[in-house]
Amino acid sequence: MLAGAMKVFVTRRLPGGALDRLAADHDVEVWPERLPPPRAELLARAAGLEGLLSLLTDQVDAELIEAAPRLRAISNYAVGVDNVDVEAATARGIPVGNTPGVLTDTTADLALALMLGIGRRLVEGDACVRRGEWRTWEPSLLLGRDLHEATVGIVGFGRIGQTVARRLEGFDCTALHTSRSGGVPFEELLERSDFISVHTPLTPETRGLIGAEALRRMKTTAYLVNTARGPVVDTAALTRALHDGEIAGAALDVTDPEPLPAGHPLLGTPNLLVLPHLGSATHATRERMADMAVDNLLAGLRGERMPHQANEVLTPRGP
Ligand code: NAP
Ligand code: GLV
Ligand code: GLV
Repeated sequence: MLAGAMKVFVTRRLPGGALDRLAADHDVEVWPERLPPPRAELLARAAGLEGLLSLLTDQVDAELIEAAPRLRAISNYAVGVDNVDVEAATARGIPVGNTPGVLTDTTADLALALMLGIGRRLVEGDACVRRGEWRTWEPSLLLGRDLHEATVGIVGFGRIGQTVARRLEGFDCTALHTSRSGGVPFEELLERSDFISVHTPLTPETRGLIGAEALRRMKTTAYLVNTARGPVVDTAALTRALHDGEIAGAALDVTDPEPLPAGHPLLGTPNLLVLPHLGSATHATRERMADMAVDNLLAGLRGERMPHQANEVLTPRGP
């Protein structure tokens, strides 16, 4: 280990060899469990930490940042940084890294998989066969709705939203989009779309964006797909909408809360497909994310601008 090695905590083991590069230069401790470090563990370590490699399951809030007076760099193993109080970090001159781009295609692929999965009733079909309930080819068994030639509304037209739109061209879809900087009005997108796919970050503005009012505006034959963040959709409103048949179904990679506890009312709704936050979950992508997160942390610890830094303005603190 080099002179100038700094104390770094990594909140979970990561796929690939990226953490070996970090450990070659710094004094690295990796949380060994499958579940995230409890809050008390994080707070207890904070006082001595110079670098933190966090996951989206860790709340890196103002309290934690304040408890870490020596902290010089935070690197989040995700593109979304809603779990990090970026403002509090910025106020302390601490860069916050994220992993944009490397997971765009993988996450867009999953959004398409969810559209097809819910529209064509893949999970119900699989369950029907496994339960031994399938007797014969039937004209009306598990009829769904086509993705091809459908109108698809993309809410949040950034890296992932635009990539979804490109994939939909291959399905001869009409893609509508809305974001703060353009597209069609949100209400129009809700009313016209056969599938709605959410791709915004979680911010104070997008929290609950898909609530009772938005769900009421959707066609009763339309599906909601969420691969963004759970709280962008109002869980109670969605639960009601699915029970009442106000929309045709929902396919969720992310939920609020996450995970949904056993017996949660949302899990009792019809026409729901739900996954355990797998948007970026391929071997190749999770390894690229680890490389990017380590590169961000190494730069931040050197006092340099991170290759992918989420703070809008930050004066480098120097070595
Ligand atoms: P991005 O390139 O920053 O795109 C986000 C888009 O959302 C921007 O085009 C932005 O456009 C739009 N937006 C922001 N606020 C909005 C609002 N109030 N209303 C409508 N649109 C709004 O981010 P990305 O890389 O595509 O990732 C998007 C999000 O996906 C991430 O933040 C993360 O939470 C989530 N994600 C989830 C997974 C998963 O595993 N399921 C994987 C990767 C990413 P304007 O600024 O013009 O509004
Ligand atoms: C995953 O959800 C991410 O934001 O990278
Ligand atoms: C279905 O399998 C068909 O041949 O129409």
